[in-house]
Amino acid sequence: MKDAGGRLLAGVQLDRTGEQPLYRQLALQMRAMIGDGTLPPGARLPSTRTLISELGVSRATVVAAFEQLTAEGFLRARAGDGTYVDRLWGTPVPRRRSARPPLSERGAAVSARGGELYAEAPLSWSPREAESFVASQIAVDAFPVSAWRRLVAHRASRRELLGYPDAHGFDSLRTAVADYLVDVRGIDCDADQIVITSGAQQALNIIATLLLNPGDRVAVEDPGHIAGRVAFQAQGCRVVGVPVDDEGAVADAARADPALRLAYLTPARQHPLGMTMTPGRRAEWIGWAQRADAWIVEDDSDGELRYGGRLLPTLFDLDGADRVIHVGSFSKILAPSLRLGYVVLPRDLVAPFAAASSVLARPPATLMQAALADFLREGHLHAHLRRTRRLYSARQQALLEQLDTRMAGRLRASPVVAGLHVIGWLAGDVDDQSVARGLAARGVYTYALGDYRVQRRLPPALLIGFAGTAQEHMAAAVARMAAAFDEGCAAEWTGPVASE
Ligand SMILES: Cc1ncc(COP(=O)(O)O)c(C=O)c1O
Repeated sequence: MKDAGGRLLAGVQLDRTGEQPLYRQLALQMRAMIGDGTLPPGARLPSTRTLISELGVSRATVVAAFEQLTAEGFLRARAGDGTYVDRLWGTPVPRRRSARPPLSERGAAVSARGGELYAEAPLSWSPREAESFVASQIAVDAFPVSAWRRLVAHRASRRELLGYPDAHGFDSLRTAVADYLVDVRGIDCDADQIVITSGAQQALNIIATLLLNPGDRVAVEDPGHIAGRVAFQAQGCRVVGVPVDDEGAVADAARADPALRLAYLTPARQHPLGMTMTPGRRAEWIGWAQRADAWIVEDDSDGELRYGGRLLPTLFDLDGADRVIHVGSFSKILAPSLRLGYVVLPRDLVAPFAAASSVLARPPATLMQAALADFLREGHLHAHLRRTRRLYSARQQALLEQLDTRMAGRLRASPVVAGLHVIGWLAGDVDDQSVARGLAARGVYTYALGDYRVQRRLPPALLIGFAGTAQEHMAAAVARMAAAFDEGCAAEWTGPVASE
């Protein structure tokens, strides 16, 4: 029978054209042979000289491979007596017999709740496409780079920020956010009611885990924010769509379902349709939450980006019974990659929320929190908001003009008073998801309204973001969209229908 050393020499195949260094290839292959028992515990390896001549490699290659495997505990050198497979490796790990299908194709690889997370994966688009019609794209060209760089550099040298962060968030950011909320949103709250999160999405995930049990019923707007809904579904909750009309989400639908435990709402700017919830509707929802002893999650992640109309008092401020959790974010008003947001909580929920946050996610990087605190304190956010409101207004106007000129008869869009996108209602009986996919295949990125539906059938439409595209580039961008329609950007696209 072949000895273990012979098996090593026969089994190693080195690829001299590959990118991986030879010593690493050798070490990985020997490790696999030890793992599956081809090189059994206690086996003596061929001498370095034999390996050099049989494998045609340098001494440095063999020595580096042996050193790595010795450091990892696979090999043991006995002084003057060669190198052996360590006896620790007594139980071989069975070798994989056949290629297995990728995880994504093995239904059982994730739990039923995990399946909810990726069933809804949004249309893919390249985040490097700074100028696109993606609905939540911001104006990266307007980001105040020099102020941000100065503030980050200043905080980056502070050693006291290097330890684990406070689960509630960086103190001076909590204070700065409380001041900001009083100024901009009229929310009367203290800094100790605020917990800093990695954006609104993390806040929603923590809320769902902290407050709900699997099977609990949750009202979501129909159509509504996709990832927000998924946060609740992934906790095993049953989501129930409530329709949206010109006044915002319809509260009657919740009143008819006494088992509802929570309602997830976007009153400042209904996502995705864009209307502002009326004062009457706000009162109805608060009345519902108090009578049903249920929670309201008020997602206000871009409430400040208004171009007209009044910014109405938040549900958090109107509620006198601690039923509302207010969720905010710096993603749209500053930049989504910062991953910074916050929740304003009824006092009794602050400690449980912070405890859950420290287990589920940990707070965001202290450096970023500290830089943002300084950014707010020095007044840069107010200035940035003033600038971007003007800029986004002008970009929206440019988009609407171009859609009117180049897309008339194919889609119809009206101005919005808030947010970063308009709704382009498609003419004809088309499938908006196919249209969006057809556009994306041609490098024109939008979202389909159909992706946002829960139960309700909606007329076909696209969410078309205006914030990321400079005014002077809008004509060319919309011309690309028009060209994609000319090419028949979806198999189902049947062409314009005159009656629409
Ligand atoms: C309505 C709404 N809520 C929450 C989010 C998530 O924001 P964040 O980046 O803060 O997680 C978005 C992002 O687009 C959104 O549109």
